[in-house]
Amino acid sequence: MRLVIMILVIKGRLCRDYFYQKKLMKKTILLTTCIISALFVGCGGNENKSTAESSQASETGGGPPSYDPKRGEGKYSPETLTLKDQLDAPLAESGEKIAGVKCFSCHKVTDEKLVGPGWKGVTKRRTPPWIMNFITNPDPMIDKDPQAQAMLELCLVRMPNQNLTDEDARHILEFMRKNDGIK
Ligand code: HEC
Repeated sequence: MRLVIMILVIKGRLCRDYFYQKKLMKKTILLTTCIISALFVGCGGNENKSTAESSQASETGGGPPSYDPKRGEGKYSPETLTLKDQLDAPLAESGEKIAGVKCFSCHKVTDEKLVGPGWKGVTKRRTPPWIMNFITNPDPMIDKDPQAQAMLELCLVRMPNQNLTDEDARHILEFMRKNDGIK
């Protein structure tokens, strides 16, 4: 009788151990699955986030808003500003008059600096859209444009906005072209 009871007890223990182990196994498996799936979800989440970020970045042009130092900032671009190879003499003459009123207090037509740089060679240093944008919209360009900032360091004066109309600006550009030898 004792023996039977002992056997039963041992069997019971063994069984309990067996079940316990099985339970433990189950738990471990469950836990690993959880961890693995959590990892996957975590990585997946990150992936989504980074694609969202990159698509957002490509919408805005990638990082900080791009600045084109050949074009400057303003409404003029190589597409909207077309120049003839030849000079438009009446336009240039009108431009010289406007510049006489609004620009020559600070600019010479030689390469000599007055308050601002001399205009000689300016149409070779800068593109036509850059000049048009700069003279109609100097403030943001003095803030952003590397060339304008370099000039500011030399001149120590910010060129004030002269409130030029589109025509004024175009006429002055034609005068600058004449000053640089275009005929
Ligand atoms: C109060 C002085 C002042 C007046 C007036 C002025 N400018 Fe300027 N300009 C400057 C200064 C100073 C710079 C150099 C950039 C800076 O420091 O802001 C400059 C730069 C420029 C440049 C760039 C030159 C280069 O070599 O790249 C152009 C083009 C220009 N001015 C055109 C004009 C025109 C056109 C007018 C008249 C409508 C005018 N400026 C009136 C002071 C002046």
